[in-house]
Amino acid sequence: MPALVLLGAQWGDEGKGKATDLLGGSVDYVVRYQGGNNAGHTVVVGDQKYALHLLPSGILSPGCTPVIGNGVVVDPAVLLSELSGLNERGVDTSKLLISGNAHLITPYNITVDKVTERFLGKRKIGTTGRGIGPTYADKINRTGIRVQDLFDESILLQKVEAALDFKNQVLAKLYNHRAVVAEQVVEEMLGYADQIKGYVADTTLILNDAIDEGKVVLFEGGQGTLLDVDHGTYPFVTSSNPTAGGACTGAGVGPTKINRVIGILKAYTTRVGAGPFPTELFDEDGEALRTIGGERGVTTGRDRRCGWFDAVIARYATRVNGLTDFFLTKLDVLTGWEQIPVCVAYEVDGKRVEELPHNQSDFHHAKPVYEMLPGWSEDITKAKTFAELPKNAQAYVKALEDMSGAPISAIGVGPGRDETIQINSFLD
Ligand code: GDP
Ligand code: IMO
Ligand code: MG
Repeated sequence: MPALVLLGAQWGDEGKGKATDLLGGSVDYVVRYQGGNNAGHTVVVGDQKYALHLLPSGILSPGCTPVIGNGVVVDPAVLLSELSGLNERGVDTSKLLISGNAHLITPYNITVDKVTERFLGKRKIGTTGRGIGPTYADKINRTGIRVQDLFDESILLQKVEAALDFKNQVLAKLYNHRAVVAEQVVEEMLGYADQIKGYVADTTLILNDAIDEGKVVLFEGGQGTLLDVDHGTYPFVTSSNPTAGGACTGAGVGPTKINRVIGILKAYTTRVGAGPFPTELFDEDGEALRTIGGERGVTTGRDRRCGWFDAVIARYATRVNGLTDFFLTKLDVLTGWEQIPVCVAYEVDGKRVEELPHNQSDFHHAKPVYEMLPGWSEDITKAKTFAELPKNAQAYVKALEDMSGAPISAIGVGPGRDETIQINSFLD
């Protein structure tokens, strides 16, 4: 089983970090293929808790080589501080590989992210403010700065000047912001170059060779399917492709090389930032999910919006990603509810719809159609097999599986590495 993709099936924060870390011990390479330090992945190993933003979660597994692929946007300051933070805690980060083609988040990309959001006012996206969107915009505009540019001072200056020519006009004239000085940006970026140089490699070549040699390569998505710039709830999305196809473009491997696509699926739903969310709760159930589930953003500290499980979204994730498996997380959070509502379809303009509405306005006013499933009160955090789960918890999992269109191959019953029920191996 050489190549697997592991991605978020909802709006992010499904527990991808934990799932990746769990597999890390059996995997040779873990590759981030999109996004940047907008991600926040919490991994709990024994009594140690790690919050990773840019680095692949596989970095915590000693045998595993972590890779930052060409599709990622890299804030060099964040990269170096995350590395030194891990080093201080005794984690060996020396194996890290970074694609020279990955784009760099520059200070002016962060400025543009913040001023754009401010000027959007109540129409803002609620971004993480990390410069992600403006950096991808520069990439597509062909005015981006890549990791490899750090090692050629004159090219770097030319590129930064070219990028700032237009941006400074906009910043000064439209946003009333002081102009950014190219030389200062270059000086700051060059200050990172020496520390980053040793990690830079032709990651596409290395990963394709590894797959051909039968090594196990895991592509770890950031964000989630509904935050995908093409397939998500546009414009309330991130600016990259967390969906499975993004692993191919963001790491330089062909689709024929990918054997398995695992969707990480929370047993209920959360979202951070603005945008439609049909099953969102504004009552004490929503508050209880937030409190029991610890639903607070790892990156921005914002409270996550919470709601019941939405099977329409899960089916959609199965379709656009070609999911072969689900990893259902946070089932333990649902312990204690007498009945658990599950959204099985939407009502749009009086009509029942089973699939995600193609039209944005329809999705914005879709009403969830709920089915009530019986809950359980027993503690499930110690369960190691499916059979050890209470009957109603088993039935809940089975119902979700039937509605979602792919087998549930693992179940999370707690944040720890070992708090997992494995039903089918991901590595067969
Ligand atoms: P990611 O962005 O997808 O990696 O997810 P986050 O780390 O942002 O959020 C998931 C949170 O749920 C983290 O605090 C995890 O430690 C925690 N978590 C993951 N799986 C489980 C689980 O099965 N049960 C519980 N209670 N917590 C979990
Ligand atoms: P992980 O990997 C949840 C959301 C932001 C905002 C939108 C755009 O931890 O699941 P951006 O800064 O990317 O331009 O913001 O996307 N967002 C996330 N929400 N989890 C994430 O990452 C997210 N990364 C971005 O809240 O709504
Ligand atoms: Mg997260």
